[in-house]
Amino acid sequence: MTTTVPEHVTLPNGQQLDEARAEGERAYALDRAHVFHSWSAQEQITPMTILASEGSYVWDGAGTPLLDFSSQLVYTNIGHQHPKVVAAIQNQAAKLCTVAPQFVNEARSEAARLIAEHTPGDLNKVFFTNGGADANEHAVRMARLHTGRYKVLSRYRSYHGGTDTAVNLTGDPRRWRNDYGNSGVVHFNGPFLYRSQFHSADEQQEAERALAHLDQVIQMEGPASIAAIVLESVPGTSGIMVSPPGYMAGVRELCDRYGIVFIADEVMAGFGRTGKWFAIDHFDVVPDLITFAKGVNSGYVPLGGVAISGKIASTFADSPYPGGLTYSGHPLAAAAAVATINAMEEEGIVENAARIGTEVFGPGLRALAERHPSVGEVRGLGVFWAIELVADRATREPLAPYGASSPAMNEVIAACKAGGLLPFANFNRIHAVPPCTITDAEARQGLEILDAALDVADRHVKS
Ligand SMILES: Cc1ncc(COP(=O)(O)O)c(C=O)c1O
Repeated sequence: MTTTVPEHVTLPNGQQLDEARAEGERAYALDRAHVFHSWSAQEQITPMTILASEGSYVWDGAGTPLLDFSSQLVYTNIGHQHPKVVAAIQNQAAKLCTVAPQFVNEARSEAARLIAEHTPGDLNKVFFTNGGADANEHAVRMARLHTGRYKVLSRYRSYHGGTDTAVNLTGDPRRWRNDYGNSGVVHFNGPFLYRSQFHSADEQQEAERALAHLDQVIQMEGPASIAAIVLESVPGTSGIMVSPPGYMAGVRELCDRYGIVFIADEVMAGFGRTGKWFAIDHFDVVPDLITFAKGVNSGYVPLGGVAISGKIASTFADSPYPGGLTYSGHPLAAAAAVATINAMEEEGIVENAARIGTEVFGPGLRALAERHPSVGEVRGLGVFWAIELVADRATREPLAPYGASSPAMNEVIAACKAGGLLPFANFNRIHAVPPCTITDAEARQGLEILDAALDVADRHVKS
């Protein structure tokens, strides 16, 4: 049921609704005339206008509040318009808007210190980028220069970004039309028990067999030709498949055995999303490089980076690192990171994400799975959950084919929005990925809306 919003109400940013709507209508017309959108057939989209946001909510072009279960693109970990982060950006803008990367700047230095404080092991140096894809580009470049090798391994069912190397690392259909087969990337199958490629009966088998498969790929490709293995600590867009116990430690062991650099992509999973500062912390593993973006400052100003271990940093101690960006460690982005990380510590936001996962989402989503025949599996950690929708529980036939949507999925998404929830959807999955600041009441409200939307999905189940 769409919420009816009275005229002349005030949005959380203080703007009158009728004025904001008029602005939104003009913005929409200009958007359709001039803005070229990511990953889209330009004439086939009707993008949603967003007029305002606060906490766990966004207000659409009509002024209807929607519970943001997407965190936009899974990055507003601290919620929308957090006052401390907004103030930090305003203060930094008044103090010093921009400084080129070759100079020292207080905001950048402090952001690097705070990030290093939370990374595992000795990943104590930070190279700042503008986002996640370029963080992965640079991590791979560092690994190639460090090892003197070229090839990189990454898993199918992964996303690592839209730039050249990053999109080739990606193991989902977004790679296909960008892949000329010359990127030096070889893909392997990672663990995913629900759709096991290894015919495993349980998590232990899945971990052992996925590791044996990875070892085999390394052998066949030639260990001495492989610079790095790149893995999302918990794969995000491709389905939030939390690795079974032992898998990540096994990957670490293979990397050590063959002198391969282990790059953990924490762009989506990092900074609280899984209920820990970094998702790799669930597995007690220390990678050689961590790439991050999104949650580091909740995307209030674009920022990403690579956290670098002592071993890799030493390669560039006396030999220059051949890479850089004009805006590396931009003060506005760095100030937003400092305020974000401090607020996350002060307000127990990572702990909140962990608690919501164990107390609300875990039990709540499992109850939905029991009630709805369209739910094949729910899985996740913290505020990072996937609902895998199927047309047939026995065969596990997905409700949309791999790499595509379907009328059934579109109906489910529409039902979420009609109920007042902005979902994150990918192929046959709905992800529950709200801000880490979400309250219990909001999380439960979201589950209720999902419950109603899943009734729509159930109608598409083959009886
Ligand atoms: C795991 C992961 N890596 C890398 C990226 C790319 O980040 P960006 O879009 O900031 O370039 C994303 C974006 O969704 C991601 O989820």
